[in-house]
Amino acid sequence: MPDATVMEQIVSLCKRRGFIYPASEIYGGINGFWDYGPLGVLLKNNIRDWWWNQMVLCPPIGPDGHPIEMVGLDSAIIQNPKTWVASGHAGGFADPMQTCRQCKKLFRADHVAAMFMESEWLGALADSIGDGTNIDPQTIENAEKWARGKGRKLAPGLAFVRGVEKALNALVVELAVQRRAGRLQISNIGICPNCGGDLTEPRQFNLMLGSEVGAVDPVKVYLRPETAQGIFLNFKNIIDTSRVKVPFGVAQTGKSFRNEVTPRNFIFRSREFEQMEMEWFCHPDEAPKWYEFWKAKRMEWWRSLGVAESNLRFRDHEKDELSHYSKMTVDIEYKYPFTSPDFGELEGIAHRGEFDLKQHSEHSGQKLDYFDQELQLRLKEQGASPEEVKAKSRYIPNVIEPASGLTRAVLVLLCEAYTPDEARPSKMFLKFKPQFAPIKVGIFPLVNKDGMPEVAEKLYLDLRNQFTCEYDAKQSIGKRYARMDEIGTPFCVTIDGQTLQDQTVTIRDRDAMGQVRVGIGQVSGYLRERL
Ligand code: GAP
Repeated sequence: MPDATVMEQIVSLCKRRGFIYPASEIYGGINGFWDYGPLGVLLKNNIRDWWWNQMVLCPPIGPDGHPIEMVGLDSAIIQNPKTWVASGHAGGFADPMQTCRQCKKLFRADHVAAMFMESEWLGALADSIGDGTNIDPQTIENAEKWARGKGRKLAPGLAFVRGVEKALNALVVELAVQRRAGRLQISNIGICPNCGGDLTEPRQFNLMLGSEVGAVDPVKVYLRPETAQGIFLNFKNIIDTSRVKVPFGVAQTGKSFRNEVTPRNFIFRSREFEQMEMEWFCHPDEAPKWYEFWKAKRMEWWRSLGVAESNLRFRDHEKDELSHYSKMTVDIEYKYPFTSPDFGELEGIAHRGEFDLKQHSEHSGQKLDYFDQELQLRLKEQGASPEEVKAKSRYIPNVIEPASGLTRAVLVLLCEAYTPDEARPSKMFLKFKPQFAPIKVGIFPLVNKDGMPEVAEKLYLDLRNQFTCEYDAKQSIGKRYARMDEIGTPFCVTIDGQTLQDQTVTIRDRDAMGQVRVGIGQVSGYLRERL
């Protein structure tokens, strides 16, 4: 099935079955905002709880063989506006934007290329110029001819229809350059992907969403664009009030807001989203070691969600794409249906150095350094001079930051679980790893009479404290199984005529579609073993 179709089907399934709805739909929606329905919120919570469990409650074992130290935080979404000046967001958190002089649409300059790349037209053109190393004028001429003819049909309204030569020359040359560099990523095409008009030069557009606080002389504030800064602001509070010692981490999950210029690809890039971030504070000399540690641990965690190894990869940031705070960054990427065969970002692991603590210290006038008592003792034992001991045992910790998107993780699990299957009435099923399935067990009376509902309801009351269960007595049993397949429920327990005679029930396995018969008293144990 083409990847575009898979994505359309996932979006439609999410709406139909109550995972994700467009926000404010009854008013026509609002671009870049989504609501998580009854199943979506369960799926999202399952992922977040697993992250919290594995990162905060049972954090990974460190290089010394002991569990690392990690504590949690839930900081305010709105902070003193000075926060964003110090963090660099007020000045530097911006995307380059281009406006079309003709249709007046706004585009993120670095998305214009992707929009072109999605057109069938450019795909065919890219094929026609091969690897782009040797484009002769004849090829350009052929492509132009092709664009005037077939391209006009495939992409009516695009640049090539009105400004064919200009568009093609720019595209072909740019494509060739990019292909030669080994990465097909066109930039600064200067042509509107919507109507073919001229685009303005890129201008910086700040991504922070603002609001106002207070009734008299209201103060301009910002909704946080990342959960990270609340952690830096509380560094001193946490050191002073808990028993943590460097190296340690602080973890936080929650909403972040960005006025994305082109929110797109369903929940992949939205204006309101959730993040799961950790700031790991360590001695500057140890930062490279912890960077490697977190790279490995975070990849392990994504695999623990049941994501196939072949759909995940690391990608190091080039020097020119590093954020203002970063010394080095690696992304964990996933092969989304809309990026396939390429990959798209899922999590960033950044070496932020001492940037944030230093900035907040300078802007707030508060000391945000760390006195390392253990290091002081060690230095003394090693015979260091009093001056050296004093100078070295107080320092600003470096930060390694594994920053991931919770709502993006929801999208990954939906894409990963989506499994076409012509043999089923639903023609597909969601193959969630059972642990993350929104509903773990469906409990059904075969028919809604003959004493079956009473037995089924009693079983439901027994099981619902242990697993997320759904009791359903409506429609035919086939339709109920099909619905459970569509929402990815791993097990369905059915109470039938035989149950009333011998106290056994059937348990249907979502993946194998087979059924086993077990005693009603054994259902809980059977499920616990498999969930
Ligand atoms: N504190 C660092 C930071 O926020 P980021 O790479 O901008 O880094 C981290 O964001 C993660 O948050 C991304 O890898 C992505 O999963 C998620 N994310 C960022 N912007 C998003 C958006 N507009 N919509 C959904 N998820 C987003």
